[in-house]
Amino acid sequence: MPFINDKLKSYQEKALEENQEELNIKETTSSLIAKVKTRFSFKPSLVINTLKKTIFGQNEVIEKVSDMLNIVHADITEKHRPLYVAIFLGPTGVGKTETVKVIANSIYGRPDAFCRIDMNTLAQEHYAAAITGAPPGYVGSKEGTSVFDEEKIKGSFSKPGIVLLDEIEKADTTVLQSLLNVFDNGKMVLTNGEHVIDFRNSIIFMTSNLGSRQIFEFVDNNFKSKLKRLYYRLLPSNWGKSNNFILQKIIKKQLEQSFSPEFINRLDDRVIFNWLGQDTFYPILDKFVSLLNERLEKHLCQITLDDSAKQFIIEKGFDKHYGARAMRREIRRHLEVPLAKVLGNRQGSTTYVSYKVTVLDKQLTFQEV
Ligand SMILES: Nc1ncnc2c1ncn2[C@@H]1O[C@H](COP(=O)(O)OP(=O)(O)OP(=O)(O)O)[C@@H](O)[C@H]1O
Ligand SMILES: [Mg+2]
Repeated sequence: MPFINDKLKSYQEKALEENQEELNIKETTSSLIAKVKTRFSFKPSLVINTLKKTIFGQNEVIEKVSDMLNIVHADITEKHRPLYVAIFLGPTGVGKTETVKVIANSIYGRPDAFCRIDMNTLAQEHYAAAITGAPPGYVGSKEGTSVFDEEKIKGSFSKPGIVLLDEIEKADTTVLQSLLNVFDNGKMVLTNGEHVIDFRNSIIFMTSNLGSRQIFEFVDNNFKSKLKRLYYRLLPSNWGKSNNFILQKIIKKQLEQSFSPEFINRLDDRVIFNWLGQDTFYPILDKFVSLLNERLEKHLCQITLDDSAKQFIIEKGFDKHYGARAMRREIRRHLEVPLAKVLGNRQGSTTYVSYKVTVLDKQLTFQEV
């Protein structure tokens, strides 16, 4: 039966062809998926490991950042919006800006590889022109320019752009309004109407100290005795679940009072930083000292603090209200100022020197070792 045989053969061939086509489609799809998956070349785990080594006492924050980076890296976020919009909340000097710097450094190799806008400078309504581009005739600004650094916002095919809007609560409502559009469709149209800034490949971080004052008031009211306040001052960063719950409630309330529901609704995440506790003093001091040692390399000099010197700085420099900034100030005052004098006396020397820093007569002194 040649006819039937021919038909069978033709069916077989067709089935084979279809199978091959299906395989081809599968292959293309899987290579597409592979391509999409590998669009971003950064490794979330590397960023997180660096964060763990440099940001102390903020484990929940690092966990949230890890989730965020994994989502961004998987490239499954909506295409018409920024990759991620998060607000960092918490007291001053606890690592909010530093976290963004570490992320930028881990992804781009430069801690300043992000577009930072200080919202405080945009507090007045007429400055809002700066964010959306100056209207024609606006004195002192070039038409169509804005405070945004487009290169850093856009990033690249393999890397997300990073934007930091500092002190967002200080921004004028017209600025917040234009940001709603950015969060919604990933675009900002400059006022001359010709230029559009694209945020669809950006991770947008905002920072705010909202609620911090109220938290300190809460603590002062609830830890009335001096002894209790001292105890609170020395508490670890994670000072108990129930208190953390209150802290989050206070911040949430302030957030709701300061921003419109539309604004809050468009945030992918609210990340609340702890204030710094006792467990963070030594690692943060060590970090500052090793950064100082990097700067001392060019003077052929290194320093090591003994326990008494560390305790001296920590006692003076720890302040819950000002976070690690207070410690940095004390390092300047008690360590860098006398050290500068020592270095002045060594000018022109070509030998390498190591100093042990210790406490003598209630001040830090430098002993050559
Ligand atoms: N948790 C922390 N771990 C390590 N270093 C920290 C931490 N918090 C703050 N620092 C250090 O203190 C300095 C100030 O921190 P940062 O600029 O991140 O403060 P911030 O939270 O952004 O405060 P502000 O709200 O005033 O802007 C930085 O040099 C930073 O390295
Ligand atoms: Mg900051």
